[in-house]
Amino acid sequence: MRTSLAERLGIDAPIFAFSHCRDVVVEASKAGAIGVLGCVGFTPEELEVQLDWIDARIGDKPYGIDVVMPEKDPWAEEQDLNRLHEKLKSMIPPETIAYAKKILADNGVPEMPEGAQHEGDYLIRSTAATARRHVEIALKHPKVRLVANALGAPPADVTRLIKDNGRVLAGLCGEVSQGKKHADAGVDIIIAQGTEGGGHTGEIGSMVLWPEVVEAVAPIPVLAAGGVGSGAQIAAALMLGAQGVWTGSLWLTTIESDLTEHQRELLLAARSRDTTRSKSLTGKPCRMLKNEWTKAWEAPDAPKTLPLPLQDIVAAEATGRARAYPDKARAVTINPVGQIVGRLNELERTRDVVYRLIEEYYAATERFKPLMSWE
Ligand SMILES: Cc1cc2nc3c(=O)[nH]c(=O)nc-3n(C[C@H](O)[C@H](O)[C@H](O)COP(=O)(O)O)c2cc1C
Repeated sequence: MRTSLAERLGIDAPIFAFSHCRDVVVEASKAGAIGVLGCVGFTPEELEVQLDWIDARIGDKPYGIDVVMPEKDPWAEEQDLNRLHEKLKSMIPPETIAYAKKILADNGVPEMPEGAQHEGDYLIRSTAATARRHVEIALKHPKVRLVANALGAPPADVTRLIKDNGRVLAGLCGEVSQGKKHADAGVDIIIAQGTEGGGHTGEIGSMVLWPEVVEAVAPIPVLAAGGVGSGAQIAAALMLGAQGVWTGSLWLTTIESDLTEHQRELLLAARSRDTTRSKSLTGKPCRMLKNEWTKAWEAPDAPKTLPLPLQDIVAAEATGRARAYPDKARAVTINPVGQIVGRLNELERTRDVVYRLIEEYYAATERFKPLMSWE
């Protein structure tokens, strides 16, 4: 299992564990995989605290961070994030906001409490200017060996900065053309995510996408993402030419994950068919559990979802209220997760998930051994 990429990063198993939860990151790296912290929910100041916390607990193990940074940012000229937020808000048709509010009211979710977090706070966290600050902060932390970008190659100067600092740069793709573009822009690892995956996802299934990308970007290493939840699937990914696997959904049902009790219950009970690709969260297709929120945006009278980042502001109405009233918002809480959710049926410790994957991987390769003989 020690692929050349695993050697390069100094990890025992090439299992990349993406999570927004720092506890999962620490536990995954300590168990011999590599934890990757999703930064999109943090202000730069919060991220600094998170990384210091991880550094203090992870020992000499490496870890990664993941940012959401477009190669070209149409709002780059606007440095004042509050002004940017006001500008973006003024571009949202009032009927779209009214529709989001109606979905929440129809499902019995109260208005935001007085003085609660403003929806602009979330937007400010997810702008390219913030992602740039995330990278700068991460580069001050030597145990951050890997910087991944959800949107592929970052702007050229950021790519250079990451590589000049000796960190490994990874970028996600959902189709071959994107993977080739990232490779040309100097990305060190291409993460090929099949449509099964949780979060933003394309249309092509993992079984087709992984080998296509492997062949198209060789010799650049590829990580297989989308639908990986067992060691046999890791064996399959390596057979298809990947150098490791990139996983997200798997860590949501760990004991360390910071979901609410209600979200955990929903995920543990969900079947693979219970997810949908919905534009209702960010304006880009994102795989999540079907519920009253996703259904309402599919209704014949629903307004069209808006492009990123405008739909983010619309959805902040739901994410904010779900945070404030987790119980009352059960039917409309947004739960990004992949189709592998059908296998996530019990809570496990993060480290036990890593050990299980490794054991299952070896069991799968044992099953395969007799098939390798021609006699
Ligand atoms: C709850 C959740 C949030 C995610 N957020 C991000 C993100 O902020 N950045 C990113 O690059 N990928 C994000 N992803 C996608 C993961 O990085 C990963 O590619 C995906 O989960 C792999 O497929 P799997 O869910 O089948 O393991 C997210 C996935 C989930 C489930």
